[in-house]
Amino acid sequence: MALPMRSLFTDPDRYLQSFRLFLANSTEHQCMQEFMERQLPSVIGSIGNGKSAINILSVGGGAGEIDLLILSKIQARYPGVTINNHVIEPSADQIFKYKEHVAATSNLENVKFTWHEETAYEYESRMSAEKKTKKWDFIHMIQMLYYVKDVSATIRYFHSLLEEQAKLLIILVSGTSGWETLWKKYGSSFPLGDLCCYVSSADIKRILDSAGLKCQLHELPSHMDITSCFIEGNKDGELLLDFLTETCEFSKTASPELKHQVMEELRKPGCSQERDGKVLFNNNLSAIVIEP
Ligand SMILES: C[S@@+](CC[C@H](N)C(=O)[O-])C[C@H]1O[C@@H](n2cnc3c(N)ncnc32)[C@H](O)[C@@H]1O
Repeated sequence: MALPMRSLFTDPDRYLQSFRLFLANSTEHQCMQEFMERQLPSVIGSIGNGKSAINILSVGGGAGEIDLLILSKIQARYPGVTINNHVIEPSADQIFKYKEHVAATSNLENVKFTWHEETAYEYESRMSAEKKTKKWDFIHMIQMLYYVKDVSATIRYFHSLLEEQAKLLIILVSGTSGWETLWKKYGSSFPLGDLCCYVSSADIKRILDSAGLKCQLHELPSHMDITSCFIEGNKDGELLLDFLTETCEFSKTASPELKHQVMEELRKPGCSQERDGKVLFNNNLSAIVIEP
């Protein structure tokens, strides 16, 4: 009998393996790097004006690669100013890797790191139980809003913690990406459970508009090479397919009909482009900058 489909999050090792493969096969981090080089300097241009210390909150900071890049830009804009960098991150494993990255990075003398091993919601609950409302000069939530139960409430809470000249930066998949096409059509056939939900910049824009919050939106072009997904039995292809559908062992557990439909969809222009014999999935991201 066929195995039932289950969420990729029920197998943390396989999830991490497929996530690493996704990073290796996509321009995800390169396109974020480009944004940090070209656009971040103007986004953070006034967050630290007149301050003796800059307070930064990273929500879902992961292993810290992008956080460290952000810190280098803030240091360049405000040389010598003390930076308090707090990180909310529920995975002990990710925090461990973050600390390793910090230890391997030079020029961080003026940065003080504090890690909170908890979810965004646990942080909010703890702060309200302790009757604390610490404010921040820069808050970022990069590729993490898929994992919160209430996206709108999470954005509203962290937005309420912004100082006067502060900014809130959200980066997540774009409403013009292949993710949007695939998930709007087949999301209900994938076994997500309550650990993850599909959201794109189109959803965030609607949430911000209805909350009356002003934002600027930047499109960050990115792709993922999914050619190996079309080679029957290819291990990397199977892992990437798991990542795309957030399903553990999608190839083995999806019905033949669903598998056929998803494979067809992945090749179509709404999801991918074929270039030089490769199938490149549209992994465009959006960076959304919100003011207080
Ligand atoms: C896809 S990773 C992104 C990491 C990093 N921001 C980056 O862009 O490389 C998502 C991160 O969010 C964390 N996460 C998951 N659920 C969360 C929650 N409810 N609150 C805060 N962080 C969460 C995960 O542990 C993971 O490190």
